[in-house]
Amino acid sequence: MAGSAHHSEPSAVRYFSQFEKEGYYKKDAVYLNAGAPGTELLRMLPPIIEAATTHLMQNELEGDAQLFQYGVENGNWQFRSFLATFLSEEYGDDTVCSEQIFLTGGASSGLWLVLSALFSPGSVVFVEDPSYFCALKIFSDHQMTVVPVKTDDGGIIIEDLKEKFAQHFSDTPEACSPPLRALLYMIPTYQNPTGSVLSDERCSKLITLVRKYGITVLCDDVYNLLHYDDSLVAPKRLFAFDNQSDSNYIGNVISNGSFSKFLGPGLRIGWIEAPKWIVDKLENFGVLGSGGGINTYTAGLITSLLALGKLKSHLEKLKTVFKMEATAQLLRDELPPGCTLKSPSKGGYFLWVELPEHINGSHLLPFAKKEYQVSFMPGHRASPTGSFTNYIRLCISFYPLDVLLSAVRRLCVAISEFESKSKENPLFWQEYVDV
Ligand SMILES: Cc1ncc(COP(=O)(O)O)c(C=O)c1O
Repeated sequence: MAGSAHHSEPSAVRYFSQFEKEGYYKKDAVYLNAGAPGTELLRMLPPIIEAATTHLMQNELEGDAQLFQYGVENGNWQFRSFLATFLSEEYGDDTVCSEQIFLTGGASSGLWLVLSALFSPGSVVFVEDPSYFCALKIFSDHQMTVVPVKTDDGGIIIEDLKEKFAQHFSDTPEACSPPLRALLYMIPTYQNPTGSVLSDERCSKLITLVRKYGITVLCDDVYNLLHYDDSLVAPKRLFAFDNQSDSNYIGNVISNGSFSKFLGPGLRIGWIEAPKWIVDKLENFGVLGSGGGINTYTAGLITSLLALGKLKSHLEKLKTVFKMEATAQLLRDELPPGCTLKSPSKGGYFLWVELPEHINGSHLLPFAKKEYQVSFMPGHRASPTGSFTNYIRLCISFYPLDVLLSAVRRLCVAISEFESKSKENPLFWQEYVDV
């Protein structure tokens, strides 16, 4: 119908994100729970995506336009080989190879793909406590039995993992191939929500253990490239500890990567780096055969970004924009006594704060939002056991530095005031529920 609201000019089209639905674009508070690049960063994308698109379209006009055809299951070889070169440089690891890379629609899609292709509903999944809260929902959707494993400031506790494995599997077969007795899901580098990084020593021990018990490990390696120290390369990922030249190598580790955190989540693209036996299984997965891989067009776009060197320069710029240390220092300076910044704050998106034991993060939240216009993620949301009630997670990626720092400063005052008001009346927070 001419003139109807549904027929607006293309220039008037406005896209809404999941975050709009969550209210993060409202100006009523600074939402430090938003774990994604914010507007300022996403506005850096149109010029580079435009350049990549021009490059890509030129190729298609000159060739037979197969980019628009059904793609190959694992992603076309140019994408995989450009990506392998890029990752080799970023990881400082020349063993990254295109044959072990598999195109996905992002890390969530990669996880779903692995679960669907390799694990039947009812399988056991070991997870760090705390962990990425949305992954917990994916496991519940897949009807998996979640077994929480304890963590400390250095990430997953190997002794606890060992105990949990022993409780579930009385035998330790000499070589369990394929290692599909259970899944271990983890975020070894710049963990969500804690920011912890698993040490080399824990990584080596973990590999020994999962080989012994026949467990596959899926690592969400989505923050690795965002390291804010002087190092030229990212911390060594767990995948690289599963050394192919070991005599007992089977291939127990999957590295699940994504462009969401250092480019744009709306691109819906990522990759899996996995042993050959897993790549083969994924390649045989019916939905990919029928659908011709995932996100073929965007893979072409990323290939052009890589060919033009624009991904590298974008990543370098982001690393200078994200001010994790400045935010961490402010917290160290201004958090009230009894609070501790737990995160090592060396990379990724998150700062993990321990509040005094009697302060519940989900009670603090409505108060901080109403009185100080600052929001965050209460720790218990990240816990499969509902623990970490006196922890909160803050994200540094969504706002420009001045907005971020002033919100963090207000939060510190909010905690202090919350504590003193709670002393007068332990139930005062109830007045703020549902605001
Ligand atoms: C650990 C972890 N894995 C996966 C995701 C989602 O990744 P993607 O956008 O690639 O699906 C996130 C985003 O917050 C995350 O923190």
